[in-house]
Amino acid sequence: MTINPVFTDATPIAAIDAEQQFRADVLAGLSAQQKFLSAKYFYDAAGSDLFEAITRQPEYYPTRTEIGILDKQGAEIAATLPARANLVEFGSGSTAKVRRLLVHLPDLAAYVPVDVSESFLRSEANALAIDFPQLAIAPVAADFTRAFTLPDGLSHGAVAGFFPGSTIGNFEPPQAAHLLAHFGRVLGRGATLIIGVDLVKEKAVLDAAYDDAAGVTAAFNRNLLVRIQRELGADIDLNAFAHRAFFNVAASRIEMHLVSRIAHTVTVAGRAFRFEAGETIHTENSYKYTIDRFRDLAAEAGWTPRAVWTDSEALFSIHALVRS
Ligand code: SAH
Ligand code: AVI
Repeated sequence: MTINPVFTDATPIAAIDAEQQFRADVLAGLSAQQKFLSAKYFYDAAGSDLFEAITRQPEYYPTRTEIGILDKQGAEIAATLPARANLVEFGSGSTAKVRRLLVHLPDLAAYVPVDVSESFLRSEANALAIDFPQLAIAPVAADFTRAFTLPDGLSHGAVAGFFPGSTIGNFEPPQAAHLLAHFGRVLGRGATLIIGVDLVKEKAVLDAAYDDAAGVTAAFNRNLLVRIQRELGADIDLNAFAHRAFFNVAASRIEMHLVSRIAHTVTVAGRAFRFEAGETIHTENSYKYTIDRFRDLAAEAGWTPRAVWTDSEALFSIHALVRS
């Protein structure tokens, strides 16, 4: 087997900090008037597997549509990146999408997948190393919303970013602008960012995409409770919570909730939380943009829109942005 030129293992997340942060965020979220949990906590090992299963559901159009754009326009998209760049992917997941760019980037200096789901990050990086034996791969297990350092030993060439999947939509627009500005600081002046953004469309299509008939999205949503039980010690009856997802037209976002079917009390890390019947935990937003609305957001965060690609039905968009 050919050994990849440099790097292999993931730079790990500081486990103690991550655990304390998880506990503090869950307790704070369940104490709020409208109970909420951060969507980043969906992604433990089981959550990553469930997300991959979502991407295979017929109702969930974003993944296959974005891959379709990359398959068709990948050469043109890759051509917006500087020669011999170090490519940083935020929330890399299965790496299925970057593979569509890598085939057009034989001179890439290094690929740096960043993800909070550590075991999935490692296994995907190892699989990629087998398929792209000449590529230097430097995985970083980190929360990309926080300060993190790029690995030592990257070449002095340009740094570029890739943020597919419309993960930007999982942030409130002001936080999304902050995140894009943060990525700008991580990547540096003059950097290019290729970013996937889901588009506004008919409510029925959006509602179905987040409530598939096979119940995979429901299992993904409930897995957050499973994770809380396992990692924080909790007494939660999973059957007492139903999955609810709907497109909130006025806010231009999908909302996902876990709805308490009954009035009851759950205990998490020794603390009791009361639920009325019908009360919800708001677990995720997934904002949908028009092309112009997303370009305005990017500009607000210091990025100049350079190009945009969509599919024939205008379901999804991929933007090339350059940091001013
Ligand atoms: N990019 C892939 C995966 C999208 S799912 C695709 O387009 O299909 C979102 C990914 O982002 C998951 O792999 C999840 O683990 C990761 N993620 C979510 N929030 C994160 C955060 N704050 N920091 C790092 N990774 C995060
Ligand atoms: C990762 N993220 C962009 C997905 C989305 O579509 O908002 C997460 C997801 N939640 C439910 N289904 C998929």
